[in-house]
Amino acid sequence: MTVVRTPLVVGNWKMNGSFEANRLLLESLLGLLAQKRLPEVGVCPPFPYLPQVGALLAETPVGWGAQTVSEHRVGAYTGQVSASMLKDLGCRYVIVGHSERRQFCGETDETVASQALTTLDSGLMPIVCVGESAEEEAAGKTLAIIDRQLAPVLLALAGVADEGASVVVAYEPVWAIGTGKTPTPEGVQAVHAHIRQALLQAGLVQTRILYGGSVKASNAETLFALPDVDGGLIGGAALNAVEFSTICTAAANRLV
Ligand code: 13P
Repeated sequence: MTVVRTPLVVGNWKMNGSFEANRLLLESLLGLLAQKRLPEVGVCPPFPYLPQVGALLAETPVGWGAQTVSEHRVGAYTGQVSASMLKDLGCRYVIVGHSERRQFCGETDETVASQALTTLDSGLMPIVCVGESAEEEAAGKTLAIIDRQLAPVLLALAGVADEGASVVVAYEPVWAIGTGKTPTPEGVQAVHAHIRQALLQAGLVQTRILYGGSVKASNAETLFALPDVDGGLIGGAALNAVEFSTICTAAANRLV
């Protein structure tokens, strides 16, 4: 099988939006992206807006998905949303294990692995987030933390038929999220190369690795030029159509 990793840019809207704001943002974004050479692009709004966003993006090159999912398939889990429900809605992506979910909602490495598996089993693409905290980074533990976070995910996904094309990993250093700080390009590449090795060892040769954490129009080109950065997971800048569209076109430079 030839290895083709189409660059991917996904906007994580987090807990932002309204019917009006979503419509304005997407209309403006679609206008800016029209006629451009594009990577794969997606947006992940809060659950209540998935049908609206799905309708606005129907027949467009922009996909959409959810920000989390239940680790369970069905049953007495009040307030939770299953992967099959997201599939029913027409989602393409599900972000799992975002650091804000790990921090505020008690998600563990094991629940994240179960979420990734149920997502994949439902025919959706999990975007599995990993990344170290500021303290862990200062203690030189970055790679060890990432290995720990990835291990149960790789175990759960062992034997994925498409060699990992339907799985995405996002490296998001917690200290870079929403802070305006990013690791050096060399630092980003070193972590991505480490993740790539782990994926290759697990047979996931097609899996894309996104970088997330203070990606902006001004630094996207540098980050996306790194050999093992296959695109970005974008927070704040995804809420601004001009910023996000510029980030998307920067990733298109990786198209072969
Ligand atoms: P920022 O781009 O706002 O730093 O957020 C990154 C992020 O958490 C995306 O999931």
